[in-house]
Amino acid sequence: MFFSYKIKDVTPSKTSMISDLASKLKREGKEIISMAAGELDLSPEKNIKSKAIEVIKNGNTKYAPVSGLEELKEAISRKLMDENSLSYPTDHIIVSNGGKQVIYNALVSTINPGDEVIIISPYWVSYPEMVKLCGGVPKILKSDRESNYQINVEKLKKIISKKTKWLIINSPNNPTGTVYSPETLRKIAEILTEHSKIWVLSDEIYEKLNFIHHSPRNIVNIQKALKKRVLLVNGFSKSYCMTGWRLGYGAGPKRLIRSMLKVQSQSTSAANTIAQFAGVDALELSDSSFSDLLTILKRRQKIMLKEIQKINGLLTNRPEGAFYIFPSINFFIGKKLMDGTVIKDDLVFCKELLKRKNIAVVPGSSFGEKNCIRLSYALKAKDIILACNKMKEFCDSIE
Ligand SMILES: Cc1ncc(COP(=O)(O)O)c(C=O)c1O
Repeated sequence: MFFSYKIKDVTPSKTSMISDLASKLKREGKEIISMAAGELDLSPEKNIKSKAIEVIKNGNTKYAPVSGLEELKEAISRKLMDENSLSYPTDHIIVSNGGKQVIYNALVSTINPGDEVIIISPYWVSYPEMVKLCGGVPKILKSDRESNYQINVEKLKKIISKKTKWLIINSPNNPTGTVYSPETLRKIAEILTEHSKIWVLSDEIYEKLNFIHHSPRNIVNIQKALKKRVLLVNGFSKSYCMTGWRLGYGAGPKRLIRSMLKVQSQSTSAANTIAQFAGVDALELSDSSFSDLLTILKRRQKIMLKEIQKINGLLTNRPEGAFYIFPSINFFIGKKLMDGTVIKDDLVFCKELLKRKNIAVVPGSSFGEKNCIRLSYALKAKDIILACNKMKEFCDSIE
């Protein structure tokens, strides 16, 4: 066969079905309000943008070193020390085209056929598919609404096998907005102490978008001994509103970073040079710019939760970070719209909501949790209210 077995196993994103339909409707002239976006509607700070323009004007636009510009790695190293009290010299750091590439580099350079990776569901859409692309086996550990999506450590113990290579944790979480508590992290650290071969990929891409500031926040801060088998993943997309700039970084043991650099050198060479220079300035932003961002997001979250509570049958969770909420639509499953269309599952719910009310949301099954939907409040307050009103009309028409 021409195509690889690996690609055969990778499932196309259900998210793209909704975004393709949304694009089609837009082309037909419909005004779509999207609560599906995984990015903020805000623009990066002025100094980040002017730095990029200055770099282009000065012609500092050649390939960067594979591991990243030295000045950016130094700034990342300082950030990790100042904000996270963790020492990572620059040769323990890799700069890539987004956190996504950091994760892919790590998995591709460590997974052998049949190796297992524990992923907590609901999960970010790309984790299981990346694991499969690397020849590994995703092992899904469900977390539930009752515990507000904290990790069930008893279940974690049971899912660990001799083949477990990685545990991926993501806090603040996409899609639930859950922030793992220090108790949860402490219990995970205890389990991992008994399983010395398992590594942890700690995806902290929403680190700054955290409304509850537990301390310590990070599994390495909880258990220093784990540092030699933890990869921290972070980036500029979410906290700095720099999604399209494609800039992320990883910090971890030197031997892992070295292997990841081999992959990067033979695949993308290095992250975008212009974005890297601007990234240095981004890391110098004062705390006040983040508190402004958090104030905006908290306000939007409050509005969305208030509006959602007006919708009969929609059961929401308690988000503590990121910019998503993840309500259950179980109440509507199996019920009918007025024209007889049956809401068979979350995908049908999302498609019909889009077709009938021009509101785009993401089906929970994309994140491994069916009969839920992910709503992003990365949009203006007036659009949140309008979209929620339309969603209420839609839900009220299901009987
Ligand atoms: C949980 C999580 N991790 C990683 C990423 C990757 O982000 P980026 O590649 O833009 O840095 C995303 C993007 O949506 C995400 O939601």
